[in-house]
Amino acid sequence: MTKSVSTEMRGDVAVVWIDNPPVNALSHHVREGIVRELKGAVDSGAKAAVIAGRGGTFIAGADIREFGKPLQEPGLPEVCDIIEATTIPVVAAVEGNTLGGGLETALACHYRVTNARAKVGLPEVALGLLPGAAGTQRLPRCLKNPVEAVTMVSSGRPISGEKAAQIGLADQLSKGNVVDDAVDMANGINDNDLTGRRLSKVELEMTPEIAAIFDAAMVEIAKKAKGAIAPLKAAECVRAAYELPYAEGVKKERATFMELLPGDQSRALRHMFFAERQAQKPPADVSGEAREVKKVGILGAGTMGGGIAMTYAEAGFDVTMLEMSEEALDRGLGVMEKNWARGIKSGRITEAGVAERMARLTRTTSYDDLADCDLIIEAVFETMAVKKEVFGKLDAVAKPGAVLATNTSYLDINEIAAQTSRPHDVLGMHYFSPANIMPLLEIVRADKTADDVLLTALAVARKTRKTAVVARVGHGFIGNRMLTPYLRQANLLVLEGASPAEVDKALTDFGWAMGPFAVSDLAGLDIGYKSRQDQDLSQHEQRIYTAADRLVEAGHLGQKSGSGFYKYDPQTRARSENPDATSIIEEVRSELGINTRSITAEEIVERTQFALANEGAHVLGEGVAQRASDIDVVYNHGYGYPRWRGGPMHYVDTVGLKTVASKIAEWTEGAGGVHWEPSDLLMELADQDKSFAEWDKAK
Ligand code: 3HC
Ligand code: NAI
Repeated sequence: MTKSVSTEMRGDVAVVWIDNPPVNALSHHVREGIVRELKGAVDSGAKAAVIAGRGGTFIAGADIREFGKPLQEPGLPEVCDIIEATTIPVVAAVEGNTLGGGLETALACHYRVTNARAKVGLPEVALGLLPGAAGTQRLPRCLKNPVEAVTMVSSGRPISGEKAAQIGLADQLSKGNVVDDAVDMANGINDNDLTGRRLSKVELEMTPEIAAIFDAAMVEIAKKAKGAIAPLKAAECVRAAYELPYAEGVKKERATFMELLPGDQSRALRHMFFAERQAQKPPADVSGEAREVKKVGILGAGTMGGGIAMTYAEAGFDVTMLEMSEEALDRGLGVMEKNWARGIKSGRITEAGVAERMARLTRTTSYDDLADCDLIIEAVFETMAVKKEVFGKLDAVAKPGAVLATNTSYLDINEIAAQTSRPHDVLGMHYFSPANIMPLLEIVRADKTADDVLLTALAVARKTRKTAVVARVGHGFIGNRMLTPYLRQANLLVLEGASPAEVDKALTDFGWAMGPFAVSDLAGLDIGYKSRQDQDLSQHEQRIYTAADRLVEAGHLGQKSGSGFYKYDPQTRARSENPDATSIIEEVRSELGINTRSITAEEIVERTQFALANEGAHVLGEGVAQRASDIDVVYNHGYGYPRWRGGPMHYVDTVGLKTVASKIAEWTEGAGGVHWEPSDLLMELADQDKSFAEWDKAK
């Protein structure tokens, strides 16, 4: 077996190579290997050592799979201390991903050489952690400016190698081969007095100016954290580097790391890390190669078609947009241009970048112009008759092998596919609004979708930087389907006595980006109204939305009309109570003979979140979603569910399915029982004292 850490002698310099694909994580054998090989280098009389990573990348951090398991010695803090204490100069060849424990390893070295493309950072907060191998203590001792350290640690955002060199994190910016340059540097070091190069020995002093920087940073970090605890704790540890001697600072960092590691937030965030990667993989029964996609056709230049076209043009695809009229094309392209102009204003894109994107767009009203497209995505009105007509026309013009996708939110894709002579080429590609920004893409595998068509959709998702989740056909697929019982409970809670603002506040306090009533106002209350009218709802179901329907009938359509469940300031869009909504709600309650009561935030959270997970369990039971963790990805990436809660299914696992099931059973037997349909899967798992995570694993 090849060793994951081995030494190559280049003259008098020992190059200690780390070879632990795919990202050179610091697994136990790597930590052991670094210590062993460095000792070997010293014992063999090497003049200096270089630590380098195979595959053009240094080290992407600790091995996340080892978290939560018993630590196998040596731990990373100890390895870093050993590196720093090495009696010969040690140079880090910082290239590729140098993240987390990887950067901490580099900071323990005496010198760092990097290149402009390297990605250097401490992303631990994204896992609900903070650097746990003295990163919060060595980084500020290495940088000229405390702001950089506190920003890197609390945001988790990596910086480029170029910036790392500018701010003093790296000693040299290589324009050629980083490892060769690191060896050259090692060869040139003639002074073995490394005291000044050992960051743990650098003294920092807290001054009133630095204290003021931290005070301001803490306020900003708390604002941005939105309930996540790690960013502030990480920043506090950086502050401690200025306030405490090194050893004390390290102790504080270690204690905080050990406190965060088993916590709910870190477990949820680590769950999300693996869930996202798992979701992108093709289903186990799918094989073959993705088809090549260069040219994309988009039907409909409305809200969704425009956003989808922006996504593909931004990713470098040629895009042909088809609409019913030149006016509709003018309108659609106008909105896209305006969105890009905002991007120029904010500095996100350049004028030349926008010009390039516009040049990739072709407009047409003729289906013949779609004949050379490799992928065609339909985003026209949500009516089966219109979709069928469009797919019939597409079937007539699309070239053989073209992938035909629909962005339908709810409709039966098998029925749409059956309209063509090639149902195996048809699938759903369900984007979320605004499609150029929202990362989620539900890929809906219809009954006859060919394997290579599904693989093509997964491949273009990657190229367009979308997070794909594979679903099966079913009303509303995964995300929208689950929204119905969630919104049902939110509206019931209002009928029972909570105000829309109380419901929204309980849920934003829980961590949701927006509450359900603010979201409904944003989307437009007329959308739900129309969809309810198109469906054959039961009387029970209709009753729940009486207030929402009356608001629409009274002209309160949400943000677009200046009022809905809330009133909106025309200038600032600030929300306030809408007295008309309050009267309508009170009127409806009294008509329905409801005795209102005060409702706690806890009940609001439980009823809505358990309803969401219960429907998720139905979705799983029916095979519409493959894994509970896929549902978590859908809600994180498409609906503003708090990432640090890990998604609706992970959340109920955290609560305990026994508790969740007994609450659902209680509600099902209570007055509102008609609104509950307990999932067999959830109830069975609760009976067996199991979790959704265990169910996923057993599959
Ligand atoms: N530990 C274990 N596995 C890891 C890993 C890590 N640190 N980083 C990535 N992987 C695995 C992924 O799970 C994936 O496995 P799979 O193929 O079985 O699904 C595989 O490596 C490839 O990962 P990606 O698909 O994400 O590859 P990309 O090339 O898109 O991205 C990356 C590479 C930027 C390194 C990205 O994987 C990443 O951000 N990794 C996490 C980095 C991180 O958070 N580091 C800090 C860890 S915590 C720490 O160091 C604590 C310390 O302070 C004590
Ligand atoms: P929209 O009304 O904003 O745009 C639809 C566009 O399609 C219009 O510009 C219209 O002129 C055009 N169109 C209609 N029939 C056409 C035809 N036969 N040929 C060419 N163009 C035609 O609608 P929106 O919101 O963009 O929705 C489009 C689809 O995306 C629907 O299926 C919808 O359910 C789905 N969707 C909508 C989301 C949203 O938040 N708006 C989210 C996800 C999916």
